[in-house]
Amino acid sequence: MVHLLEIVDLSVSIGNKQVLKNFNLKIGQGETHALFGPNGTGKTTLLNVIAGIPRYTVEEGRIVFKGKDITHMSMDERARLGIGMAFQRPPAIRGLRLKDLIKIINPKADAQEILKKMDFSAFAERDVNRGFSGGEVKRSEMVQLLAQQPDFVMLDEPDSGVDLENIKLIGEAINTLTQKDLRPSARTKSGIIITHFGHILEYMKADRAHVMLGGSIVCSGNPAEILSQIKKSGYEGCAACLCPA
Ligand SMILES: Nc1ncnc2c1ncn2[C@@H]1O[C@H](COP(=O)(O)OP(=O)(O)OP(=O)(O)O)[C@@H](O)[C@H]1O
Ligand SMILES: [Mg+2]
Repeated sequence: MVHLLEIVDLSVSIGNKQVLKNFNLKIGQGETHALFGPNGTGKTTLLNVIAGIPRYTVEEGRIVFKGKDITHMSMDERARLGIGMAFQRPPAIRGLRLKDLIKIINPKADAQEILKKMDFSAFAERDVNRGFSGGEVKRSEMVQLLAQQPDFVMLDEPDSGVDLENIKLIGEAINTLTQKDLRPSARTKSGIIITHFGHILEYMKADRAHVMLGGSIVCSGNPAEILSQIKKSGYEGCAACLCPA
């Protein structure tokens, strides 16, 4: 198994709070992993640190992507290497129209086709995320990822606040981004998705899931099984189960 992403003994703090503690994770080429965990446990922190947002202090450990140590690489270098992210709460960008951002992300992208796929054509002329509803912001993030076509896609709660019809559209877009239309051995792209309720997993394919508690992974396994375990015995119960992390 070739690992696209490897996180080794990563400890990260922000302000005077240590958020990630000896965090370890490997994601193989062609795999999509789901990440569950209670509020404030460090899920967004993990994705932000992989993306290279500079406000965090990496105290220990390393992040290896495509065999390269990217722990101290700038955010734009990581994006160029093939890392993309849909943010939990992205900012609005005054003065930048969505259709122009698509061209900046990828001049070769077929903006009209992408907007149509996400049922988002009516938003092409609007400033990015400005005045968008919660669910519209999530579709805007997907539009940008479909333009970028990253090799590793990170999705921070892409389903939160999204209605029942659009959750299907978002699930399908994630399957496209992670090449679930190809046979498993032909897939080269990978992803990680943070979701609380897992409803989106009915519309997209996740290969493996992890439960994060107190800044590290405490349990890993099949997504449906992990989700039902959390529903049955809570996150703490999941930590006590025998699944190897
Ligand atoms: N600047 C900061 N100073 C101190 N603590 C911070 C700062 N920024 C974030 N934190 C804390 O880091 C912890 C991890 O936050 P994070 O956003 O990663 O959680 P999360 O698992 O994504 O939660 P949620 O499910 O609510 O999105 C939280 O307790 C948060 O309050
Ligand atoms: Mg979060």
